[in-house]
Amino acid sequence: MNFPVVRNRRLRTSRGMRNLVRENSLSVHDLIYPLFVTHGTDIKDEIASMPGVYHYSLDRLEEELAEIHELGIQAVLLFGIPEHKDAEGTSAFEEDGIVQQATRRIKELYPELLVIADTCLCQFTDHGHCGIVVQDPVSRQAVIDNDRSLELLARTAVSQAKAGADIIAPSNMMDGFVTAIRAALDEAGFEQVPVMSYSVKYSSSFYGPFRDAAHSTPQFGDRRTYQMDPANLREAIREAETDVAEGADFLMVKPALAYMDVIRTLKDNFDLPVVAYNVSAEYSMVKAAADKGWIDEQAVVMEMLLGMKRAGADILITYFAKDVIRWLKEQ
Ligand code: PBG
Repeated sequence: MNFPVVRNRRLRTSRGMRNLVRENSLSVHDLIYPLFVTHGTDIKDEIASMPGVYHYSLDRLEEELAEIHELGIQAVLLFGIPEHKDAEGTSAFEEDGIVQQATRRIKELYPELLVIADTCLCQFTDHGHCGIVVQDPVSRQAVIDNDRSLELLARTAVSQAKAGADIIAPSNMMDGFVTAIRAALDEAGFEQVPVMSYSVKYSSSFYGPFRDAAHSTPQFGDRRTYQMDPANLREAIREAETDVAEGADFLMVKPALAYMDVIRTLKDNFDLPVVAYNVSAEYSMVKAAADKGWIDEQAVVMEMLLGMKRAGADILITYFAKDVIRWLKEQ
């Protein structure tokens, strides 16, 4: 009889053996937890399509921050839901904008907690697009004014840094957005504030629940003229190359689950930290199936997130961050 000489199973015989040879793992240090903040008082509203995720007014944010601190989460990604929206997204860059207020509050309470500010206009514009919309004189169609949008995004980034944001995370996909933001930050004296660019952001249906949450569904058209076509991979390299040349400090891939090859490609081609955004529908789908008893939530979440690490992600943005830390502690 011819027995195989190579025995792969030798390294799987016990828990200790498997731990010894494990190639990837999840840690509290890898995780960024998104937070939604809003005006008003005594608000803690669950987002219908994202069970377990809430809108917080600043006074109620404190209890959430205490929990985050207790769990050892190091970084939060802030999204604001403003009171007023207009064509230019003015409330994105006001000194007393909701993100600016929340940032100051967080830095007062927990100076060590890293505040990452999402820099985009879509939550703040009445039309829900990520930039300024104008009418094209020739086609008469509504189009994005790229360069005017850059000015407002740069103002937004500076106002966020002034409020104390540790990292600026522009998610708008305008051309030249990293250059514009970097230059504005440097000029305002924030040379030390890094830019976490949403370098590779696909025009995706996986953002559906987030748009409900942030009230940022475009009122007309879609985001395909600035976000990427899900069919493309090589274009992701081009997007990332531009961001690197423009001075980005982190590269992000978004969404994550259906884009594992993109995460791997960025990891292999660039030496900046790669961030994967485990977006809203990736969260909601798991929650819904778990609620029906069809899947084991903990096992599925851990496998999914570990898969993203294996694909090459150094950092994960996930609505599951708090759960993951609790599960890691139980292990
Ligand atoms: C804003 C922004 C979006 C998300 C993060 N920042 C929505 C969009 O681009 O339409 C989505 C995050 C998620 O789905 O969890 N530009």
